Formats: sequence, structure tokens, C-alpha cells
Amino acid sequence: MATLLSTPASPAITQNPDIRYLGRLLGDVIRAYGGEKLYKQTEYIRSASVDRARGIQGADVTDTGLAALTLDDTLNFTRGFMLFSMLANLAEDRQGVAAEPGADVASVLERLESHGIGKDAVLDLLAHSLIVPVLTAHPTEVRRKSMIDHKNRIADLMHIKDAGRTETDDGENLDEAIFRQIALLWQTRPLRREKLFVQDEIDNVLTYFRDIFLPVLPALYARWERVLGARPQSFLRVGNWIGGDRDGNPFVQAAQLRSALGRGCEAALAFYMDGVHALGAELSLSTELAHVPQAVLDLAEASGDASPSRKDEPYRRAISGIYARLAATCVALTGAQPARPSSLKGEAYGAPQELRRDLVTVAQGLASEGDGALATGGALGRLIRAVETFGFHLATLDMRQNSAVHERVVAELLRQAGVEADYLALDEYARIALLRRELANNRPLGSRFSDYSEETASELAIVHAAAEAHRVYGPQCITHYIISKAESVSDMLEVNILLKEAGLWRAGADGAPPQAAIMAIPLFETIADLEAAPSIMTAYFGLPEIADVVQARGHQEVMIGYSDSNKDGGYITSTWGLYKASQALEPVFAKAGASMQLFHGRGGAVGRGGGSAFAAIQAQPKGSVQGRIRITEQGEVIAAKFGTRDVAMTNLEAMTSATLLASLEPEGISQHDAARFAGAMDELSKNAFAAYRDLVYDTEGFKDFFRQLTPIQEISGLKIGSRPASRTKSSAIEDLRAIPWVFSWAQARVMLPGWYGVGHALAAFEDKALLADMAQSWSFLKSALANLEMVLAKSDLGIAAQYLPLVEDQGQAESFFGRIREGWGLAHDGLLAVTGQSRLLEKSPSLETSIRLRLPYIEPLNLLQVELLKRHRAGEDDPRIKEGIELSINAIATALRNSG
Ligand code: PGA
Repeated sequence: MATLLSTPASPAITQNPDIRYLGRLLGDVIRAYGGEKLYKQTEYIRSASVDRARGIQGADVTDTGLAALTLDDTLNFTRGFMLFSMLANLAEDRQGVAAEPGADVASVLERLESHGIGKDAVLDLLAHSLIVPVLTAHPTEVRRKSMIDHKNRIADLMHIKDAGRTETDDGENLDEAIFRQIALLWQTRPLRREKLFVQDEIDNVLTYFRDIFLPVLPALYARWERVLGARPQSFLRVGNWIGGDRDGNPFVQAAQLRSALGRGCEAALAFYMDGVHALGAELSLSTELAHVPQAVLDLAEASGDASPSRKDEPYRRAISGIYARLAATCVALTGAQPARPSSLKGEAYGAPQELRRDLVTVAQGLASEGDGALATGGALGRLIRAVETFGFHLATLDMRQNSAVHERVVAELLRQAGVEADYLALDEYARIALLRRELANNRPLGSRFSDYSEETASELAIVHAAAEAHRVYGPQCITHYIISKAESVSDMLEVNILLKEAGLWRAGADGAPPQAAIMAIPLFETIADLEAAPSIMTAYFGLPEIADVVQARGHQEVMIGYSDSNKDGGYITSTWGLYKASQALEPVFAKAGASMQLFHGRGGAVGRGGGSAFAAIQAQPKGSVQGRIRITEQGEVIAAKFGTRDVAMTNLEAMTSATLLASLEPEGISQHDAARFAGAMDELSKNAFAAYRDLVYDTEGFKDFFRQLTPIQEISGLKIGSRPASRTKSSAIEDLRAIPWVFSWAQARVMLPGWYGVGHALAAFEDKALLADMAQSWSFLKSALANLEMVLAKSDLGIAAQYLPLVEDQGQAESFFGRIREGWGLAHDGLLAVTGQSRLLEKSPSLETSIRLRLPYIEPLNLLQVELLKRHRAGEDDPRIKEGIELSINAIATALRNSG
């Protein structure tokens, strides 16, 4: 039997038998399909790298034969290491590294109980809660869906192995079945050849809804009903940006919005029809044996099902009627017959509530007999929950666009309508006055007879498409409109003006308040905008028509951006700026009489707000959660958190649990401490900001150093998303999107956005005892430091130094790298001192194991990447070089478990 990847070379490897098992099978596959030579080379490089990582003297990875690999060998080798990381991720997820202790609702109820907070308080909170992970198409998922699917099939087979079985359901030998899946993985091309289109992204996200969310959410509620002893309202939803987020993505237009909603509707209805069909088979109760209430008999009668064989089976007849109505709904809403047409004629449902009412009638009928067990548990209860959660639209689709686009479009509309010749020249006061005048009447600015620029025409088309969607699928299909780079009240009023063009904002007649069918939501994403957020929202709420709208709705959302604030001000300043903004916004909302709903725009990597969501939600300032929270889930995080039903249940439950804790658990620190800690954070943030800005924005040449040191240009060529890598042609760091910024630093193992500046701040802070106290007792700092620690542990400046020859000006390279090295040392030493550890991750053994296992697999990939980058940039045009670079990016991202 081959031994690749199974040698007990590292303590971490020996600790996880699944990793050993899967690694051994991967070795067998490489040997069988790649040949003995590749197997031996790979094994040789691997063990040398492991030795080096373990600090074995004389073990130098640069001598391990990497340089001798041919281009073909390099590609195969890289794939092998990537697959190992993929399998290691799988093994780790199975061991529950992803599931955090105490993150299930039952444990949370106990924890709240210990503070005297009972289930009633939890149910009261849930009665007006809204918890929403929102899936976006941010381009950070480097793996093809086919690869992820193979991985998931292996996970399913491993489940069978867990049960102690040696055969699959089909009688196949289990080891052979797993071997075969790995062999398929080995022979599946990891890189996309073709560019992704928005339609591909829509298709991709729909697979998560069909396979995971539609079945999983109702199952979770069933679990929660048991532990709560009551049925909470449906507070958990899954949101979607794909087909609605057009900030910097010119390919998202009205057609894509229509497609996202239309396809979503198809998926929801297909799920309901399958569920109803299955119920028809199940609910065979006969009037001869069961008492059936009149309401069910009426439903059966109305169904038109006159089949003699079902004469005594009113439930089945009622279900046939519901099915017929669903089939008619499908035709009405999607224009297509369902896969399984109905033999009966039914009238289309006008709204999901009507379908729900019929299902509830059936459930109440079942509940009226015996102990009610037939109604509450089981498929019918889950189906009712699904209809409440997913409606006919499947997922609420958010719209998003950049404030600069709205400004231009509104300016053009005003100009063409003869209202204002130069809106862009007006100051903020004049803009607000003008926009309010327009919002006070229902006369649209747009005209069918005007010739608009392409941009304006496209923006108008999309709001009209949104209005049409409201008519077809109901108002829940689009409720949020996010304004990127929001920095003023007029930025929000402009969106209301655009919504008015399609009747989605209506001025109230005769003193009645206006009606806003879609909420305009500012996204504050620079340090300055986060600071200004409370005063901007105060001014917005101060407008009487807005106050009316917000009070009628009862809540308002504000989105806060983690990545861009990090790129702007560095890790700690961003983290603290987000916290302070959330805290300062809370009284503004209270005064306006509206619940605050924060939408956290965060990605997978720490430089983009990544890290444990469970800890991050709990670390929010008290009063800022109030049962309502939305969080983006992006790129590789989607497969990691929702790739299989088990993992999705764990993560959705953790999000819910954290929200309950953040909303209900008393503040863990005294007011006195809160004030002291905030003062200390202000000082840390100020010093970290100064150090970060000085290096990144204020030192001549840093931009070129960054562009040459990291694979930023090559990342832009990856086909991982439909949207272009940058919004503008400018190469300034200010204009770069946050994803490639974070992604490229991660590849070169510097991970600068996750830590730079923190060390300077910690070193300059004199009261070390205060810092230690904060790190111990304050969930905010604990969570921030845990993320910092993870990022420091994944970075490796020894490896990063291998990228230095890529920089043209070596003098400059040395000088910048010297500063980075110094900053890293300060952060490292500062963190250990504050947390009282002698090495990184000393107090986080499972994370330490996970990271240490991976490091030896990443280093050779980095070294190969550097060599390939050198050759590529020197003008060598062998296509295998570019392929190798892209593969290495893929493999490193997989091994680090975060991309950008
Ligand atoms: P954005 O996202 O560029 O779409 O604003 C930033 C991020 O999530 O990192």
C-alpha cells in the first residue's frame, strides 16, 4: 500500500485518522494515475517540507527537488498538494473543527437561564427577530463547483464509514468507492477555462437553495421548536445578492434580476410540489377510521378530485387540490408547466399565504385527532415552515449600486426633465432640498421620449424590473437597496428618487405618509464614513417624510463594510471603527423610534472581517443587535459553511445562537470598564492607523512594491467571478477593490491587511496591565485578537521573502520589507504579551493543529509560485506557466482556507 501523505511525520497528521486515511488513498490515486515517478517526487518534497516545518536541522525545502520538476510535473504536483488540502479540510470539518462549543440553541438557552433569562424572553425576542445570512457573488471561490461536488460525495461516503459499514447502499466496497471519488477528483480540471457569467452564478447559488437551504431551514426550526417548547415565528431567512448587486459589475442588469427571481420562484414551487406530492402518498387517513373536521372535508370537496379510490380519503383529495393549485401557480408565475403536471384543474394561488392557509387547514385537521402528533412533527410541519420562509420568491434579492452612479443618473434625469441643469454642482443642502421637493410629488422625472445614456437607461430598467417583480412575486422578493460608498443624506434620497420612477416610492396624499416599498440602505465603508454614520442617520431621520416611512416600517437597516474600512485604515482601526459606529448608531435609532438592523458586509479572510461569526456577533456592542442582523456570506465561505446539510445546520444554528446571546445576555463588563477600555481602544486605533497609513498610502513607491511582490495582476486574470477585478482603470490602492488587495497579500503569505499597524499600537501603549485585562474580559477585544492571532499564524515572512526578487527596485524592496518585518515582530510580540502566551495559538490547540498540518503543504506551493511568476513576468509564454500560477493560487487559497 502506498504511503504518500500518511507518513506519521507531523504530530498533527497522526492526530486525525481521517486525514491519514484520505491522504493514503490520495497517494494510491497519484501512483495509479500519475505514475510512480510523480508519486515519489511528491512524497519526497512533502517529507522534506514537513521536516523543515518541524525544525529538523539541515532540512531545506529549496533543495528538495522542486527546481528539477518539469512544467508538467509542476502542474501535477500542485494539484496533488491542493487535493491534499481539500481532503484535509474535509476531514477537519468532520471532526467538528467548524462547530464551536456552546453554539447550539439548547446550550444558549441554558446559558441565558443562568442569567435568569427564560424561554419566554427568548420567544418574545424571536417574535420580532430577523436573522439573515445573505449570499453574494464576491469573486473569492477559486474552486470549480465540480470539485466541491466530488468533495461532498466523499464526505457522504465517510458518513457511511462512520457507521462502521464497509459497503455502500449499492453493495460497493466503501474504500474502493472513496478511492474512485478521489480518482475522479484527480482527473477533474480544477481551473475554469471560460469566464463566469452572472447566469452561472445564479445557477450556482440555486443549487445551495435546492440542496441545502430549502430542506435545512425547516429541519432546524423543528429542532428549535422542541428545545423551546413552542413554535417561534419564522425569523431565519437566507438572502441573495446574485442578480441584484451591480456595484462595479456592468453585467448585472434588468435581465439578470428577472432571471434570478424567476429561477428562484421555479425552485421554490418545485420544492413545494414535491413536498405536497409526497404528502399525498402519506396522508392516507380514511373517514372510516379517523374523524375528519369539516374544514378538511370542504378543502377535499373543492379540489375537484372525484376519484372513487380516494372517496373515503379526504386528506388525499385535499392535497390533490393543493397540488393542482400549485401547478397552476407555476404556470402563472414561471410560464412553464411543472415537471409533474396535475390531472386536476386548479386556480393559481395569489400569494404564498393562501397556500399556507390550505396547508394549515390540513395540519389542524390532523391535530384535531389523538395527541396531535401527526400535525406538528413530520413533513407537513416542515412544508408550512418552508412556505413561510421562502414564499414564492425563494430568497429576498437585494439591489446594490454605487452612490456615484446614482448621482450621475439622478443628475441626468433632472437635466432632461428640465428641473435642474447641473445637479452635480449643487452643494449637499441644495441637493437635499431639491430631492425632497421631488419626493413630495408622484410625477416621475423619466420619460419614454427622452434619450438617456446607457447607464441611466440601464438603471431605470432595473428599478422597473424590480417593480414588476413586486407585482408578480409579492413585495417580499426585493426589500433592500444597498448604496455603496454612502457618505451623505442625498445619497439615500437619490435612491428614493430612482425608486419613485417605478412607483416603489409613493408620496402620501393629503398628509398621509409616503410609502417606500424598498428600503434605501447606506453602506458605510471608509473610516471617515463610519465616523460620520451617526450624524448622517440623524439628519436622514430628521426629515419628516423619512421619519414617517421609518416609523411605519418599524425598522431601518444600515450596512457596514469590513473590507474597505480595513483597506482604508488597517485592521484594528477598522474593527474599532465598526464597533464604535454600531454603538453610536443605537441611540440615533432609539430616538427615531425604529429598531436598528445592522448588515455586516464581511468576507472570509480576516482583512475582510473574517473569523468566527459566532464570536463576532457576540462581540457586538450591547443594544446594537436587538434580534435583527444580516451578514454577507461570500465566495469560498459559502461552500465551507453551507456545503453540506450537517455543516449548514451547524452554522445557521451558530448564527442564531450568537444573535440570541448578543441580544439578551447582559453586558459582560461594567460601565466603568467600558469607558476605560474604549479610551484605550481609541489610543490603540489612532496609533495603528498612523502606522498603517504611513506605510500603505504615504510612502512613495509602496503601490509598485505591492504590485510587484504579490500576484495581484495574475489574480485579476482568474476566472472566478462575473464582475471585473476593479471598478476603474486606476492602479491606486484607494481604487482597488478590497478583495484582490487582501487576496494577493495572502498568497504571498504577508497577510498585511490582517495585522499591520497593530504591533506599533501595542508597543506604544504603556499600560500593559490594562491591555491584558481588556484581552481577558472583553469579548470585543478577545475576538479581534483571536483573528489577529490566526492571521499571524498563517503568515510567514520567511516565505514572503522569497517573493522579494520579483520587485524591480531591490533597494526599495528591502526597505519596505524591513518595515513589514518589524511591524510583524511588534504584532507578534505584542499579541503574546497581551494574551500571556509563549507561542502563537498556544491556547487554541485545535486551530494550532489545523494550521500546523497545512503549513508544510503550502511552502512548496509558494516557492513554485515565485518561480513561475518570475518566468511569466520575464515574458515566457508557455501557457503551462500561466496555468501553473493559477493552479498555485488555487492550491494556496485552498490550503489557507480563505482566499481574499
Ligand atoms: P465590494 O466588497 O468590493 O463588493 O464592496 C468588498 C468585500 O467584500 O471585500
